[in-house]
Amino acid sequence: MNLTLKVWRQPNTDSQGNFETYQLADVSPDMSFLEMMDVLNEQLMSQGIDPIAFDHDCREGICGMCSMFINGEAHGPDRLVTTCQLHMRKFKDGDTITIEPFRANAFPVIKDLAVDRSAFDRVQQAGGFVSVNTSGNTQDANAIPIEKKDADRAFDAATCIGCGACVATCKNASAMLFVSAKVSQYALLPQGKVEATDRVLNMVKQMDEEGFGNCTNTGACEVECPKGISLENIARMNREYLAASLKG
Ligand code: SF4
Ligand code: FES
Repeated sequence: MNLTLKVWRQPNTDSQGNFETYQLADVSPDMSFLEMMDVLNEQLMSQGIDPIAFDHDCREGICGMCSMFINGEAHGPDRLVTTCQLHMRKFKDGDTITIEPFRANAFPVIKDLAVDRSAFDRVQQAGGFVSVNTSGNTQDANAIPIEKKDADRAFDAATCIGCGACVATCKNASAMLFVSAKVSQYALLPQGKVEATDRVLNMVKQMDEEGFGNCTNTGACEVECPKGISLENIARMNREYLAASLKG
């Protein structure tokens, strides 16, 4: 395949970016999108041009690092896959592909396609954990019976990889889908109930302080989420938040 690639180039956070257009020939339909970007970078370096910065790590849909907005969609045109799992067979010979970073005030661009998503880390640190007594008297987690439906829902919520596609897709740059997945994975389990009140209050407070927008129930986040995180989690977080607020 021969492709025209319009890629966002921005040297650093404070500079103004712009699109640069590159031609790439002989792209195999079996390449992943990131392999195609690797080939483009090799071509750029052979021409003495600064390679395009982009985030990646596992390249198997687990780490959530590969944040690219491709032809107007987070993680590109395929469903339930990350950019690293997207293959070039989803595109056609002669296509023009536009590649941008995830855009949100809370995710400043570091360089080109790489953005700073440490806001997610700070939300997680505000309450996305269970405190465990490590004195040697810790109860075995398997000793607490959990209904299968609750275990399944908690597991589904825990599959959120923190990629940020929900924020990049939302017209308000809301982080509600991400935060609600992190709240839900604990809210559904007995181990998470001990700190449930503080958890939801603190995580929502941190979410607001990071500058994410409000949820207006559009549902675009659920459509673009590579892990199929359900809007049900947002409803659950709202219930948790109301209950915690009433407790004071
Ligand atoms: S909810 Fe989905 S889109 Fe949002 S961070 Fe988690 S995995 Fe990514
Ligand atoms: S590189 Fe890890 S999810 Fe894409």
